[in-house]
Amino acid sequence: MNILILHGPNLNLLGRREPSIYGKQNLEQINEKLALLAAGLGVTITCRQSNHEGELVDLLHQAAVNSHAVVFNPGAYTHYSIALRDAVAAIGIPVIEVHLSNIFAREDFRRQSVIAPVAAGQISGLGILGYLAALRAAAALAGGEDLAGES
Ligand code: DQA
Repeated sequence: MNILILHGPNLNLLGRREPSIYGKQNLEQINEKLALLAAGLGVTITCRQSNHEGELVDLLHQAAVNSHAVVFNPGAYTHYSIALRDAVAAIGIPVIEVHLSNIFAREDFRRQSVIAPVAAGQISGLGILGYLAALRAAAALAGGEDLAGES
């Protein structure tokens, strides 16, 4: 079972970028922690980052072929990218939206996610713990678990 970890724009700067909001760990450190958890869960992960909306669309399309679920931090595109929303809706595998910061406790323009209505779920404000929880949920959903507890 493979899970795509997809990081959107500016997340390549993690560690140096507004550390009081996004934390001190860089993307490589976050990906390493995810890889450790993945090994424990018995799944493989592929980690990708892009600053480009179209490339993120392409990576989501590829995930439909190569992966069973996606953990996705769309960065600022969260708040306005209908192209990414449509890609998430189109690919037919569970996508879990993650934000390091609590987008509901910040500027008004961050409080809306156009991705959330088509995502399997959203985790916001828990830093790297949110990514780790999202990976657990992605593995469970990819394995056919019904997280609503109905099966
Ligand atoms: C973010 C929140 C977004 O509003 C912001 O544009 C980001 C990061 C987060 O992880 O908290 O780039 O997605």
